Amino acid sequence: METLKASLPLLEAMEAYRREEALPFHTPGHKYGRGMHPALARLFTAEALAMDVSLMHELDDLFSPAGCIKLAQERAARVYGAARTFFVVNGTTSAIHAMLLAAVRPGGKVLVARNAHRSVLGGLILAGAEPVFVATQTDDELGIAGQVLPSAVEAALAEQPDIQAVLVTTPNYYGGSCDLAAIVRLAHGRGIPVLVDEAHGPHLGFDRRLPPSALSQGADLVAQSTHKLLGALTQASVLHVGKQSLVSGERAAAALAVLQTTSPNYWLLASLDAAIAQLEEQGAELIGGAVALAEMIRQRINHIDGLFCFGAERAGTAGVSSVDLCKITVSVSGLGLTGVEAERILRRQSRFQVELVDQNNVLLLITLGDAPEVADAVEAAFVNLAAQPRARRPKELLPAAPQQTALAMLPRAAFFADKRSRPVREAVGCVAAEPVTFYPPGVPVLLPGERISPAILEWCLAAKALGLYLSGPQDERFETIQVVDEG
Ligand SMILES: Cc1ncc(COP(=O)(O)O)c(C=O)c1O
Repeated sequence: METLKASLPLLEAMEAYRREEALPFHTPGHKYGRGMHPALARLFTAEALAMDVSLMHELDDLFSPAGCIKLAQERAARVYGAARTFFVVNGTTSAIHAMLLAAVRPGGKVLVARNAHRSVLGGLILAGAEPVFVATQTDDELGIAGQVLPSAVEAALAEQPDIQAVLVTTPNYYGGSCDLAAIVRLAHGRGIPVLVDEAHGPHLGFDRRLPPSALSQGADLVAQSTHKLLGALTQASVLHVGKQSLVSGERAAAALAVLQTTSPNYWLLASLDAAIAQLEEQGAELIGGAVALAEMIRQRINHIDGLFCFGAERAGTAGVSSVDLCKITVSVSGLGLTGVEAERILRRQSRFQVELVDQNNVLLLITLGDAPEVADAVEAAFVNLAAQPRARRPKELLPAAPQQTALAMLPRAAFFADKRSRPVREAVGCVAAEPVTFYPPGVPVLLPGERISPAILEWCLAAKALGLYLSGPQDERFETIQVVDEG
């Protein structure tokens, strides 16, 4: 903070309240930490606990900001080139729910690229929207998700002219970005807004080697996880309204007011302001440094026999038009290992935790929080991984998950339907009543409302057998699955 010149209106308001040392007859009940369990209180400084406050007039109101929150949100809009920016304290999940509530009327159709995160499912259920799914490409060579093609969006829009909004997820978890500018042109040509889940892109636009940001390509509403790749605290996200947005800022504000807590945590709000102030002052330097470091690490890993990390050259493959170089996807199948096996070895032998594993890869995030010295640690860990005894021959790649785009029932109807439990092997042909998601990347392979096909079931069982982390089904062993009771 000392090295930054920008004022931080939220932190300053919190500090001003603390300096007055008012006797607290208000929430939170821990009263500056005095009522907190000592084991928890010891994790925070006394100063931080005295600043866990809200509701005082000088701290402003998240739902009708006129003071420090207004100033902070205005800075965020300026830094990102948005018409308006809203702070969100329940992660990008809430921002995505708000985008759908703001842009689609109940029963209205929304085109959704099928690589959507599970938070989109929640938004569809809440908004009562009808998804028109469009399949995304897969990179079969690497066994990873690709992107949605503008031509697929164009075909769906032509076929279903009553679509009210388009929702795309870009970049995807692996950093693959779609040609959003083309999708925006197609949708805007029909007067349809484009909502972008840019959870993985709060750093885009600060270095020319990165994909262009969604706002710079004309997106209407954009949800970003400031906490995922920048300096904000976990859960702190933003929702931007584009400068030419077809959805008004008032609609976005009204939707967020339905979804957000009335007791927002000020550490989270202040962390958003501070993270964005960092970008304002040092964005090019910090993000440029992360890109350069990631490129150096990529090169070093690519020199190790049996390992491969793709880079910018992957653009043009599987619907990907540009690549976020800060994501390093390391294909380990050349070592005869699965991603899960590689993760365990990296963790146990090198005390090294990756962000994501899939059947063939482990994925590392490089952010402004990484010092150049981590390159040596990464190289050493992967050299050690490559030196493991290679008892097995390289494995067959498990292909990327098959994608269904047809629904037997709306996700909202399946969510509220009567359900029953079926052994998974006997569930083929039934309508799923719960999602099946491997996490990360958190893209449901099966959605409530989709009919369970043999191909989907076999893929899920194979992925589970590989040790990928399954989330969604009530039965975590995945021996049974909740299906809609069709009577
Ligand atoms: C693509 C994508 N969208 C949305 C989310 C939800 O973001 P948050 O965890 O900030 O709620 C995630 C989280 O992993 C994600 O990967």
